[in-house]
Order: sequence, then C-alpha cells, then structure tokens
Amino acid sequence: DWTIENFIEQEVKAIREKVGNRNVLCALSGGVDSSVVAALIHKAIGDQLTCIFVDHGLLRKNEADDVMKVFADDFDMNVIKVDASERFLSKLKGVDDPEKKRKIIGNEFIYVFDDEAAKLKDMDFLAQGTLYTDIIESGTETAQTIKSHHNVGGLPEDMQFELIEPLNTLFKDEVRELGSQLGLPDRIVWRQPFPGPGLAIRVLGEVTDEKLEIVRESDAILREEIANAGLERDIWQYFTVLPNIRSVGVMGDARTYDYTIGIRAVTSIDGMTSDWARIPFDVLEKVSTRIVNEVAHINRVVYDITSKPPATIEWE
Ligand code: XMP
Repeated sequence: DWTIENFIEQEVKAIREKVGNRNVLCALSGGVDSSVVAALIHKAIGDQLTCIFVDHGLLRKNEADDVMKVFADDFDMNVIKVDASERFLSKLKGVDDPEKKRKIIGNEFIYVFDDEAAKLKDMDFLAQGTLYTDIIESGTETAQTIKSHHNVGGLPEDMQFELIEPLNTLFKDEVRELGSQLGLPDRIVWRQPFPGPGLAIRVLGEVTDEKLEIVRESDAILREEIANAGLERDIWQYFTVLPNIRSVGVMGDARTYDYTIGIRAVTSIDGMTSDWARIPFDVLEKVSTRIVNEVAHINRVVYDITSKPPATIEWE
C-alpha cells in the first residue's frame, strides 16, 4: 500500500536504475518542490547530483544564505551558487512594466543557468519538481494568464537533457510530507509561495537597489512578527510591497516626505482566489511601528483589505 516510506524506497531504486553511473543536474530555488526533488535525488545518488542555485538578488532577507546552509552544509550536496544580482539589476534598469520585468527575469534566469550548466561536464539528466497538479492544470490556465507566470524553474529549451520528475504523481501535501520525511526543515517544507521574479514585482515600477532594500527589510519585520504571533501556518502568503507613492508625514518637529509600505496578507486554498487575512490589530500595530522605526524612508504603512478577485495577491 501507498505510504511515504514505500514511495521513497521505490523512487530511490527507480532513480538509481535510471541514472546508473551518470549525473543529474537540478535547478534549486529553495522553494518546496525543487528542494524536495533535490533531497530525494540526493538520497538516491549522492554526489552524482549537482544543483545550481541562481541568486538573482531579488530574494528575501537571508534567503540565499539559508538555502546554502540547508543544502550545501547540512545535506552536504554539491550546490553551485551563482551570484547574479548585478546581472539582473542592470537588465531591469529603467524598466517599469510588470510583464516586461517578468520576461526579463525569466529569460535572464535561463541565460545564467545555461552559462553555469555549460561549465559542467557530463550532465545527462535534469531533475524537475513537477507535481501532479502542474501536469493536469497546464493548458487550462485561466485566471493565471492575467499575469505571465514565469516560474523561475522554466528551463532552456535547447538543452539536451533527459528529464527526471519523481514528484509528478504527487500532490502538494504529499510533497511536504515527503520533504519532512527526507529531513528538510519546516521553514522549507512549509515555506509560503514566493514568485519566481521575487521582490522585483513587489517594488512597483522601476527596481532599484534602495527600493529592494526597503522591501527586503520591511518584509523581514513582517515575517518575524507573524512568526512571533504563531500565525505562519494560518496565512497563505504575507509580504510587503513598495508602491511608487510618497506622502507627507511628521517626525519630531520635522515634516517628512517619504515612501508608503503596503502589507499584503491573504488566506487561500490554491492561490486562485483569496481573502485578506484578519491579522489581529495588535500584531499589525507592532509591524507598523517597527517598520517606520527601523526602515529608512518609510513614514506610512497601509494594510491591503481586498480579496482576489478583484485584486490579485501580488500588486504587479
Ligand atoms: P496573483 O498575484 O496572480 O498570484 O494573485 C497568484 C500566485 O502566483 C504567484 N505569482 C507568481 N509566481 N511567477 C511565479 O512563479 C510570477 O510571475 C508570479 N506572479 C504571481 C503569487 O505569489 C501567488 O502565489
């Protein structure tokens, strides 16, 4: 009968048989699916797996270090971290259209991955974290086509790899269970969804270093307070956005003219529809106070109370 333990045993055997003494490449993003795929394949073939982790500079605070800690240190996997932030940021310079930003990031990701993969020898297989639901849903994307969803897992079409997709019979909850069973920490197994283009679509309009820093710092505060309040598992996604608005404020005796931060927190089953999360006022108060005190250039914090539809979860 079907149990996670049996699944692991079977898949490990199947992967070993398929791969033999050849090598597997994996694009690791730190998201649930790619993390679980990497852990499963690593269990099967160890050092015959190499992961490429592209840091596009649009990740959340400490995220890149954390991914490296879990996979390179704790799991002792071969992980190549590519620090490509400057490459992405320079491509995004002057671009304010959300769809253009997505396209640039999606394409650049492929170029960077391609460049790195080309340096490696004898890679025969490419591992992907495709789930059962990805297969049955593709082709029937409806509401999602409102925005082009370039998942930063989209891969070069002209690459000559054989695919390995060991999760393609699983649902998300099974993937989480599998991840836990393989020893992945809760913060990865229960990670909230994070868009491939990352913080670039949470800085509205043109992306700059300074604006990324504001979103990154305010987001870290929000996440910390949500964790302190024990609300992590109750909320589907929670993050901050930086709209292109400055407004008047007062600090001490002085008038300020600075940015507004928006807090977005939603409950949802699948991301297709959502409602705004009823975060207790005292938690919101704490987040607001900390953001204006700790993040430079913020003098106002607002809470997004729109459902999806008509709004989307992200602001871009
Ligand atoms: P929206 O904003 O359309 O988002 O309500 C629905 C879900 O998709 C995520 N999202 C993305 N994921 N690339 C991704 O990989 C994208 O460009 C992208 N845009 C939105 C969003 O975070 C939410 O979970």
